[in-house]
Amino acid sequence: MAKSDGPRTDLGAPVPKSLKDGGTIEPVREILWGSAAGVRKYETAEEVPADMWKLLVKLMVVQADTEFASIQQHRPWLDRAPTLEDRWIEARIVADEARHGLQACRILRDFGEEGQKMIDELLGKEEGHHKLDAFNMKFDRWSDVGAFTCFVDRVGVYQLRAFQECSYGPLARAMPLMLSEEQLHLNFGASVLRRIAKDEAKYYGDKAEAQAAVNKWYPRALDMFGHSNSETSRKAIALGLKRWTNEEARERFIQEVTPLTNAMGLELPPSDFDRHIL
Ligand SMILES: [Fe+2]
Ligand SMILES: [Fe+2]
Repeated sequence: MAKSDGPRTDLGAPVPKSLKDGGTIEPVREILWGSAAGVRKYETAEEVPADMWKLLVKLMVVQADTEFASIQQHRPWLDRAPTLEDRWIEARIVADEARHGLQACRILRDFGEEGQKMIDELLGKEEGHHKLDAFNMKFDRWSDVGAFTCFVDRVGVYQLRAFQECSYGPLARAMPLMLSEEQLHLNFGASVLRRIAKDEAKYYGDKAEAQAAVNKWYPRALDMFGHSNSETSRKAIALGLKRWTNEEARERFIQEVTPLTNAMGLELPPSDFDRHIL
């Protein structure tokens, strides 16, 4: 086959044209990992194998539950955050989490009556009755908002990244937008914590308060990855749904937040400190 002209990568393949240059984006149609790698992704609930059906519904219920729970946690700070800018970002975060909850419920809707029953239950959940501990704790202080969005939202990002290009097409395609919105949340969280730690009372609280918030939320964030030897997480990988085991994802997270926290002049407690799920 004659080689076409134009720029080439180091390996000699043509550099794909961007959309702007009149190129196209090729969607990934095949399952990329797990026992069905190479087979076409599942695009409707009817195509999803029975063992994956159950797990996918369970994962979407947990996902939606965290989104709706965090709205309840943020709500009191919409008109109590220290600055006007902080209040505006709080409002944006609440709107984003509502959209993420809706997104997860749209996937549940694919699963007919069973999915709808789950949505009805999710919408009736009161504060303090959610699946994960991190989402049953109140934001008593503004430093809680900072540490929660810095650590807990960041774990959420790892969970979403684990779904990127997964074997269920509608879920895979929902990831890029959700990830870009979450990026704002965790950048905001890091900035709030940094300001509390460094600005010493000119903004809100002081370094000791920021450190207390780190000690409170970091263990709950680590717990969110789940048990280290989870059979479910191995199954999710085999089904092409998740990319990493719980322990792999937790390790990557620790590697990321350690320098970030130290740069604020704060310290992370040891990874086994105050843990509920190991
Ligand atoms: Fe979210
Ligand atoms: Fe978020």
